[in-house]
Amino acid sequence: MKTSSNQILSMAFDDQGNNKNNFHQTVVVLVPLPAQGHLNQLMHFSRIILSHNIPVHYVCTAKHILQAKVRVQGWNPNSISNIHFHELQVPPFASPTPNPNDETKFPSHIIPSLVASTHLREPVAALIQSLSSTARKIIVIYDSLMKYVVQDVQHISNAENYIFNSICAFTTSTFYLDRIGKPPQESSVFIPEVPSVEGCFTTEIIDFVTSQPEISNFNDGSIYNTTRVIDGPYLDLIDLVDEEQIKEIAIGLEQSKQKFIWVIRDADKGDIFDEDGVRRHELPNGYEERVERFGLVVRDWAPQLDILNHPSTGGFMSHCGWNSCIESITMGVPVAAWPMHSDQPRNSVLIAHVLKVGLAVRDWAQRNELVTAPDIEKVVRRLMETNEGVEMRQRATNLKDDILRSMDEVGISSVEINSFIAHITR
Ligand SMILES: *[C@@H]1O[C@H](CO)[C@@H](O)[C@H](O)[C@H]1NC(C)=O
Repeated sequence: MKTSSNQILSMAFDDQGNNKNNFHQTVVVLVPLPAQGHLNQLMHFSRIILSHNIPVHYVCTAKHILQAKVRVQGWNPNSISNIHFHELQVPPFASPTPNPNDETKFPSHIIPSLVASTHLREPVAALIQSLSSTARKIIVIYDSLMKYVVQDVQHISNAENYIFNSICAFTTSTFYLDRIGKPPQESSVFIPEVPSVEGCFTTEIIDFVTSQPEISNFNDGSIYNTTRVIDGPYLDLIDLVDEEQIKEIAIGLEQSKQKFIWVIRDADKGDIFDEDGVRRHELPNGYEERVERFGLVVRDWAPQLDILNHPSTGGFMSHCGWNSCIESITMGVPVAAWPMHSDQPRNSVLIAHVLKVGLAVRDWAQRNELVTAPDIEKVVRRLMETNEGVEMRQRATNLKDDILRSMDEVGISSVEINSFIAHITR
């Protein structure tokens, strides 16, 4: 089988990996973490992809590509000339010998090579950008610890990102339960023997992991090197992540008994007109009918300004991107702040603590924890039903008036714009 697929591949592609028309439907780019167990798995994965006649680009430093090649077992990677190895440059890194006296057995000595790999960010982005014109779709499959390196791919409109986990779903799910602060006993698949993470990692590797950007808003899916035969229930458990939060919001909103419009959609894709793979989130059974008389669920782009400008809008639960902040403030609508990333956590502080025209849905420190339905209900009621909420709304209205005045002919905003125009036309 190996030989015959080789033959097909070598007929279909020249040695640049281009087919006769120089254009592919799909091209896969693999971005491994430069450490043995990780290099190895994506190397094996490349063979599965190649067997479907899809070109594969394997991207790492020259040294680590060599490492992956010389150590691969069971097949000879050179026999498949259709893997395109891209040997990218990183600055020289220290390569100390393992220290037998280290307190933990974690291989701290490879940290410099991992840190050096962060320099792959620019060349990887450039490579994928150049590949993006050679195929309808570029599929970037990256090691779960290479988020930093692939983060620019989100801006390439025909690229999709898939995270490759080289550890099993069982273990991943236990880390996940730790992270959302859910007592493992409450999980349907609780295993009492799971030890604490003490002694498993060093602070350096934890720093490396936590310095990776949040990628959930540009992640198209997750791949595990495992099988449902051994990991099935844990794969299902991990799958619940987003859906669980959505369920809590749904119930919290319903129980708050407030009228609401809920815009429920994923973050924009690079190309918003390409609806491929856009998810439709499932709400609890019969939900939309149950809330029909007071709640409206919108699954598409919503006319946010019109909604905020409507006199019956009393509050806005928002991720606090700066655009939404400006829109809400200038419309005099107080905000329930639920920041996700980037500037949003600090914008929320401006809203809730400095301007006092809103409140936080949860502390940023608890960002990875599930916000439960009762918490959602409480926040919504605080904003809509309490004196505290009335005061926020009053301050928001005052702020709105001040802002409108600043846009008068003699207001400070107009004065500054006019002086800028005068400056550039002087
Ligand atoms: C998963 O890992 C095992 C062990 O290294 C390897 O034999 C197998 O090829 C890997 N599969 C994939 C798809 O990476």
